[in-house]
Amino acid sequence: MSDGVGQSSTWQAVDAFLAEQLIGADSTLEAAAATSGTEGLPAIAVPPTLGKLLALLVHVAGARSVLEIGTLGGYSAIWMARALPEDGRLISLEANPHHAEVARTNLQGAGLASRVEVRVGPAVDSLAALASEDRPPFDLVFIDADRRNNPAYVSSAIELSRPGALIVVDNVVRDGRVLDASSQDPDILGVRHMLEALSQDPRVDATAIQTVGSKGYDGFLVAVVRQDDRMPRE
Ligand code: SAH
Ligand code: DHB
Ligand code: MG
Repeated sequence: MSDGVGQSSTWQAVDAFLAEQLIGADSTLEAAAATSGTEGLPAIAVPPTLGKLLALLVHVAGARSVLEIGTLGGYSAIWMARALPEDGRLISLEANPHHAEVARTNLQGAGLASRVEVRVGPAVDSLAALASEDRPPFDLVFIDADRRNNPAYVSSAIELSRPGALIVVDNVVRDGRVLDASSQDPDILGVRHMLEALSQDPRVDATAIQTVGSKGYDGFLVAVVRQDDRMPRE
């Protein structure tokens, strides 16, 4: 568009402006982002504006127990863990051992090492292990890993969380590619199959919001596990 509105440069400038107005400088998060860059991790963490939304959701949900799928360098984990109470816990699942190591360093630097556990391995395996553990259900789950596995991740998230829990899924729009019904891209198929499964699942209510900003045009999904219509827990 010729007036600049609707251009990616405008989205980035507005995202930066909103972050500056509402979030401001944060040496802990900036150090984590810098270390992740130095260590060669891709710059695909959530933007500060979404990081803060995750923290606000953790706060309003009164969450004590949070699950993350896709740790990268721990940027979103730092946002969420800081919003937990002192005895709250975040478990974050990461397949890449180097990413997990950088995340642990960043979480240590943020003073959150005791509140966050990073588990290394393919998330489907870690989720199966979590399901067999005797632990309280999660209050919030953030899914931000390989999108081809989103149907499995959402299914596990529902099983592992309490009635009323929130499930947030990043990257559900991807420049509008989610619309492509003939896509053979496993990541697009993963998002489409996840949406289809959610639409037919009486255990959850969901919506999705398109976003533009520093990471381009994308979107995130928010689902709530219903308080009723729920399979009884053993
Ligand atoms: N939530 C992070 C960004 C995650 S990027 C943040 O906002 O800071 C996606 C991460 O998912 C990457 O680190 C990638 O290694 C990890 N990942 C990809 N496939 C995975 C899998 N099958 N199991 C667990 N983690 C996976
Ligand atoms: C990208 C962005 C993400 O938020 C993510 O989780 C993975 C990839 C990207 O911009 O490529
Ligand atoms: Mg993401």
